Amino acid sequence: MSNVAVIGSQWGDEGKGKIVDWLSEKADVIVRFQGGHNAGHTLVVNNITYKLKLLPSGIVRKNKISIIGNGVVIDPWALLDEIKHLKKLGVKITNKNLYIAENATLILPPHKELDGIREDTKNTDKIGTTRRGIGPAYEDKVGRRAIRVMDLANKKSLSKRIDIMIHHHNSIRKSLGKSSIDKKKLIKDLIKISSKILKYSKPVWKKLEEFKKKKKVILFEGAQGMLLDVDHGTYPFVTSSNTIAGAASSGAGCGPKTINYVLGIVKAYTTRVGEGPFPTELKNEIGNKIGRRGKEFGTVTNRKRRCGWFDAVLVKQTCIISGVDGIALTKIDVLDELKDLHVCVAYHLDGKKIDYFPNSLHDQIRVKPIYKKFNGWLKNTKGIKKWKELPINAQKYINFIKNYCGVKISSISTSPRREDTILLENPFKKN
Ligand code: GDP
Ligand code: IMO
Ligand code: MG
Repeated sequence: MSNVAVIGSQWGDEGKGKIVDWLSEKADVIVRFQGGHNAGHTLVVNNITYKLKLLPSGIVRKNKISIIGNGVVIDPWALLDEIKHLKKLGVKITNKNLYIAENATLILPPHKELDGIREDTKNTDKIGTTRRGIGPAYEDKVGRRAIRVMDLANKKSLSKRIDIMIHHHNSIRKSLGKSSIDKKKLIKDLIKISSKILKYSKPVWKKLEEFKKKKKVILFEGAQGMLLDVDHGTYPFVTSSNTIAGAASSGAGCGPKTINYVLGIVKAYTTRVGEGPFPTELKNEIGNKIGRRGKEFGTVTNRKRRCGWFDAVLVKQTCIISGVDGIALTKIDVLDELKDLHVCVAYHLDGKKIDYFPNSLHDQIRVKPIYKKFNGWLKNTKGIKKWKELPINAQKYINFIKNYCGVKISSISTSPRREDTILLENPFKKN
């Protein structure tokens, strides 16, 4: 059996949660490897809706190990709240089924505050972040002044680490006219919750090696989407982590060959939440119609998601960058009522035709989509579980995506529910 990495192939919210939950029936271990509680992954199981932020989507199934890897940034209070909420919904969470990497970075209140301040200032470009402190926490990580999970185990060394972090933050805060960080309070607040977090803390790399030796099946759950990748996305309108498949091994602590199959989650149209370029955006009634039918409101911030036509140029590009082996196409049912569909197949830039999305923001906001028109199917696809039952025009649309991107379609999702999924190629089977 293969180990599979599930990666968002657009700007996030492609339906990763649903697909990871569905696939996790066949997996033993589910690992988050980047991002934090900026993610919102929705699962619908037996009519109960779960909205997961930090916890891997395997957590709702019995007898699975869920892991939060070192590449994730963890707000410990948000995590404890999420655990409490899920326990109330009847989900069992103990240190036997949840592990947290001891070397994962913590998001602390000053990170969240700084994220909000930056979003509110008028003199910088607003990114439209989730204001969860994700960016500032990753900055501290690469700046070598972060507090990590294992630092909670020793009050003396925690105090030293906090001094280093505070020194940096206080100078920024001073320049922003903000008060200094109350170190005593921060330490007190952290110590209060430390044992609740530390009980899940483990050297995750070692556990993964044990699982590999036992031939356990590992599912890596990406957050965000590849167009939000800090290197390959629409920089600076991106998140602060690498979201591509290559991040799975560094963010979990295993070799790249551990991953045998990269599954790209692709929404049948395009959405984006927050600011930034979006060539196929529909700022009209069709966009609103897609948004309404697709219930395109942010899981984390409840913001209205921007909607647009499927951009095949972008998806082909992200599939190449992540080495996607198969596509899980989601939300095809949302297009059921549209008479005509358009798919972006190239761009015009300064009068020239180009077949890729340029890296510079200056060009990204100027490209003009070249569309191929498709006839809609005007039939209900919601809940369909067999390829043959899909209307012929839906099959044509899906086959075009497959051929244009040069990637097989592994599955098609036809509703939010776990079971409403068409399987075409099993990613767990070595191909
Ligand atoms: P994620 O962040 O990639 O896990 O995606 P989100 O959970 O943020 O957003 C996807 C939304 O679409 C959620 O509300 C899902 O319940 C829903 N969804 C997932 N797959 C399908 C599908 O095939 N059809 C429809 N109509 N909704 C879906
Ligand atoms: P899931 O995992 C969609 C977006 C934010 C903003 C940018 C930076 O549910 O697909 P951040 O708070 O990360 O610094 O914000 O990234 N963003 C997402 N958009 N889905 C997500 O996660 C996102 N996580 C972050 O809206 O534009
Ligand atoms: Mg989401």
